[in-house]
Amino acid sequence: MSRIKSLSAIEILDSRGRPTLLAICRLSDGNVGRASVPSGASTGSAEALELRDRDPTRHAGLGCLKAAENVSQDIHRALAGQDFPSQQALDRCLIDLDGTDNKSRLGANAILSVSLAFARAQAAQRGVELYRHFGDIAGTVPRLPKPMINLYSGGLHAGGQVAIQDVQLVVPGAASIHETLAVVSEVFRAAAKRLHERYGMRLLRADEGGLAPPFASSQAMFLEAVRAIEAAGYAPSDDVALTVDVAASHFFEDGLYHLDGEQLDSANMALRISEWRRNFPIVSIEDGMHEADWAGWRGLYARLRGTALILGDDLLCTNPVRIRRAIAEKAADSLLLKVNQIGTLTEAAEALELARAAGWHIVASARSGETEDDWLADLAVGWAADYIKVGSITQSERLAKYNRLLELEHYARLTF
Ligand code: PGA
Ligand code: ZN
Repeated sequence: MSRIKSLSAIEILDSRGRPTLLAICRLSDGNVGRASVPSGASTGSAEALELRDRDPTRHAGLGCLKAAENVSQDIHRALAGQDFPSQQALDRCLIDLDGTDNKSRLGANAILSVSLAFARAQAAQRGVELYRHFGDIAGTVPRLPKPMINLYSGGLHAGGQVAIQDVQLVVPGAASIHETLAVVSEVFRAAAKRLHERYGMRLLRADEGGLAPPFASSQAMFLEAVRAIEAAGYAPSDDVALTVDVAASHFFEDGLYHLDGEQLDSANMALRISEWRRNFPIVSIEDGMHEADWAGWRGLYARLRGTALILGDDLLCTNPVRIRRAIAEKAADSLLLKVNQIGTLTEAAEALELARAAGWHIVASARSGETEDDWLADLAVGWAADYIKVGSITQSERLAKYNRLLELEHYARLTF
């Protein structure tokens, strides 16, 4: 049993310099857990609500003072002195206290910060590493995920100079996280050198630390990724493959996909993606279609199944109701798992279980606005995600996660 002594939260800043929350959970036996929460930019419309102050005189309306107060006042008052036998019991209590479908009363940021801080406090109480505790919460056997590492960015993360959001690298044959990072680092350096030669200037770095040159088209972005892999001395596909976050919801207007100067309907969008997959070593397509274009998703699934992951982010929003629908309609076969899209660990674990039971792949993901907190690495390992998506290998909020993965690889002797 874990009796809560106090809960509090403060407004801190994320990697974009925008406010977010850090929560502190103190148990009566003296154990303490703290956790901070991330924030997205290309958010799905079905995500739980991130509570912002909307006071234009502070942080352009993005302040989190109200959300912090909800933790330190309302949630503290309701939970302090209570004994919680499990994460599920705590999260149920938070969900009931909020009482809305999308956590808009207390804020999903407030609720998630408490959910995570409590998990850390319980792990400390049990004297186990956080990844092991996460595994026990979900009933999973810990395993290292393969990183999908950001190389180039466009879309909302990089001023929109090319429509698609991210091109990432995976190293299929790597034996460890260590080896993966060493290979990716060489490709990243080769890519940066090529771009420096081409554009002769210091390039914009996108929100997740990826390179963000003004590519002429999506094709040019993929081709340049292949050239960078080759320039680093690796074989595209066999040594280093690509994954893509199309983030198509963000260039869909009036029923059409506005891509590379063209306007494509759903069928032609699916065709375009399958051409990319044929011409480039792409092993995963995330958000290839708009979040509400279910027919488009079914078409994409019919075309690509078995050849690349059909990965749902905005489509699914880590939401069990939407995941059930996608399974029933054969609209996707992989879940991008972002805990803050749904707001508690318990609901995210439910999403994980549903997806796993359907034979889907799991990609545990960070957000474009992150903090130095590293709980996502423990979550990906504890929940045995197939992949982890954290961004580039620059910027400390990204490296906090990679470095924690290296630490877990080292002393837990975990393997892929
Ligand atoms: P976001 O981007 O955090 O801005 O939503 C990440 C993603 O789309 O996967
Ligand atoms: Zn995405």
